[in-house]
Amino acid sequence: MSPVAPDQQDRSATDPLAANLRPVEAGLIDTAADVEEAADSGRALIRDLDYAGYLHLQRLLSAQEPLTDHHDELLFIVIHQATELWLKLVVHEMRSAQEHLRADEIGPALKRLARVKHVLRQLIDQWAVLATLTPSEYAEFRGKLGRSSGFQSVQYRELEFLLGNKNKAMIAVFDHDQAAADRLRATLAEPSLYDDFLDLLARRGYDVPDRVLQRDRTAPHTLDDGVTAVFGRIYGAPESQWDVYETCEELVDLEDSFQTWRFRHLKTVERIIGFKPGTGGSSGVPFLRRALDLTFFPELYAVRADIGN
Ligand code: HEM
Repeated sequence: MSPVAPDQQDRSATDPLAANLRPVEAGLIDTAADVEEAADSGRALIRDLDYAGYLHLQRLLSAQEPLTDHHDELLFIVIHQATELWLKLVVHEMRSAQEHLRADEIGPALKRLARVKHVLRQLIDQWAVLATLTPSEYAEFRGKLGRSSGFQSVQYRELEFLLGNKNKAMIAVFDHDQAAADRLRATLAEPSLYDDFLDLLARRGYDVPDRVLQRDRTAPHTLDDGVTAVFGRIYGAPESQWDVYETCEELVDLEDSFQTWRFRHLKTVERIIGFKPGTGGSSGVPFLRRALDLTFFPELYAVRADIGN
C-alpha cells in the first residue's frame, strides 16, 4: 500500500514544486530576464515599503535584551512581550465592542468579543510553553529581575478595569510612571463593558434598577438582585430576544476565558517558584489565588441558580 495519499500522488505528477524540484530545476526561473526581474523587485523593496519596514521588525526584534547569558531568559522575555502585544489587541477590541454597544450595535460588538475570546485562548495555551522553564532554570536569572513583575503591566490592569474589576488602589503601583497612572485613572472613570451592556438593556426597556445605572462607575459593580431578575427574563425566553441572550452567553465565555488565564498563570507560577513571594512584593501564589474568587458579571452567574425553577 502506498504511504502517499491519492491527492498528493496526483499533484506531484503535474506540479514540479510538489515533486520537490527547486524553482530553477522546475523551469519556473530559468531566464536572465526572470533573474533581472527578481533583482528589480528586490531593489524596489529597498525604496518602497517591505515586510520588515511595515512591521518595524528591526525595532521589535531588537527589544529582547536578556540581563544574563542564561539560555532560558529569552523565553521569559518573549513570552511576556508576546502577551503584551496580544493585550494591546484585546484592549483595542474591547474598546471597540463597547463603542458598538453604546450605539446599540450588538452584532459588531459580538464579533469583537469573539476575537477577544480567541486571543485569550491563545494566551492560555502559551502557559504550556513557559512551563518548560524549570525552577532551577528560572532561579538562574530571577535575581536579576529586581522588583519587576507582571503586576506592573498597565495593559493588564486596563483590561481588568474595562472588564469591571475597578480596583482604584492598583493605580498606586504606577506612581513611578505618571503616563501609565493617568491612563488608568481615565479608564477607571469610564463605563466597563458590563456597564455598557446594562445601559443598552435599559434603553431596550428592561427594568435595570436606577441604583445600578447611576452608580459610581469608578467602583466595582456588586451583585444586584434587580439585574439578576432582568437576566431571569432573558434566559426565560431566549427565542424572543436572541441578541441580548447571545450577548449574555458571550460575556460568560469571556469571563470563563479570563479566569482560565488567571488559573493557568497561578498553576505555572506554583510549579516554577512554589510558595516564594513574588518579585512584585506580593505573597505570590496565595495572592494570585484570591483573584480567582473575583467575578466581573455576578448576576450572569447568579441567574443560573434560578433557571428552570
Ligand atoms: C516564571 C514565570 C512567572 C512567575 C514566577 C510569575 C509570578 C507572578 C507573581 C508571584 C505575581 C504576583 C505579583 C508579584 O508579587 O509579583 C504575578 C502577577 C502577575 N503576572 Fe506573573 N509570573 C510569571 C509569568 C508571567 C507572564 C508570562 C505574564 C504575562 C504577561 C505574567 C503576568 C502577570 C500579571 C498580569 C500579574 C498581575 C496579576 C494580578 O494582579 O491579578 N506573569 N506573577
